[in-house]
Amino acid sequence: MFRWGQEEADAASRVILSGSLFRIESKYNEVANFENELKQKMGAAHGLCLNSGTAAITAGLAALGVGPGDEVIVPAYTFIATAGAVLTLGAIPVICEVDATLTMDPDDVERKVSKYTKAIIPVDIMGFPCNMDRLLALSKKHGFAIVEDACQADGGSYKGKRLGTFGEVGAYSFNWFKIISAGEGGALVTSDLGVYERAIIFHDIGSNFWPYAQPITSPSFNGRNYRVSEVTGAILREQLKRLDGILSDLRRVKKTIMNAVSDVVGFAPSNDIEGDCAITLPFQFDTVEAAINFEKGIKGNRPVNTGKHVYNFWPNVMEKRGGHCDAANPYLNPVNKGLNMDFGPDSCPRSLDFLSRTVYMGMHPDWDDAVIAEKIELIRKACG
Ligand SMILES: Cc1ncc(COP(=O)(O)O)c(C=O)c1O
Repeated sequence: MFRWGQEEADAASRVILSGSLFRIESKYNEVANFENELKQKMGAAHGLCLNSGTAAITAGLAALGVGPGDEVIVPAYTFIATAGAVLTLGAIPVICEVDATLTMDPDDVERKVSKYTKAIIPVDIMGFPCNMDRLLALSKKHGFAIVEDACQADGGSYKGKRLGTFGEVGAYSFNWFKIISAGEGGALVTSDLGVYERAIIFHDIGSNFWPYAQPITSPSFNGRNYRVSEVTGAILREQLKRLDGILSDLRRVKKTIMNAVSDVVGFAPSNDIEGDCAITLPFQFDTVEAAINFEKGIKGNRPVNTGKHVYNFWPNVMEKRGGHCDAANPYLNPVNKGLNMDFGPDSCPRSLDFLSRTVYMGMHPDWDDAVIAEKIELIRKACG
């Protein structure tokens, strides 16, 4: 969360004082309005607000029919929730390498595709856009679906098109650490009406009974409850108004710093620097030693140490504890026999290498010229 203030407080209090906090038959239709505004901003036909990014990914996969017997390819560098959503549905996450951009390596996706691959989940980690041209071509060639995890990339784009709108489904997170936030929250977008309807059904076990604005014609099945309240919807509408301003200020800050230090230090390559959300400046070095020295100099951090964002820290996958009991553990389900599930801490050495040679400096959209100048000096000093 970068910007937050009176507008969010006023919106929340308007809803609270209305006494109308349930999204169905509400006085102000805050959630439904947010969904409309989100889909318009992103350029998708449908939007659905859920209570987390994890719920959005899970509902997207469920809407595509992912379940036991399926493999879903996820990158080695992402939050544990990306792989966890696959396991929640009884399917098996297949981990692929990230390349120097720190996003899914299309070459490794191609190596890992099998007859069981139902979907892949490219992740625009730290707001860095994935190579969607290559991944879309692979999807066409191999016939798998794409669920984009844009949870860390609200509003970013690739070649002028918003992240989250390339595949069958795109997922966003609005938890407290994201570009826009309501404390917790998430959304999915899709341009497929059937997927949208099934996502509504999955996210609301009561969808048979409530009069959704979108009449649901798809056959119902057992859902969950991932609904949000009108307070969340009202806050997110205000946050969405701020989104493009936040992104353009972040990009200005990042560009200014990059231009001022590019003669002394190198950066991780980007699949689209214009569409990058610019929340982070990733420096990349030839050796781990050089990265560690620079990390100390700028008091930055190396993504290899970000714990649950790196595959070797995911106990649900590393220890094959994919369910709350043995019978619900996809790794023990006979239907999944023969699927690619042998992943250990050393499975993705190239990813670990890139992550250990990269150093992050976080950006902020409200840094003024003086702060930017300090950061530039710090970086130049750290380069010796
Ligand atoms: C890449 C990624 N995917 C999914 C999620 C899950 O989002 P949420 O915390 O809203 O469930 C996160 C959240 O940190 C994330 O960073």
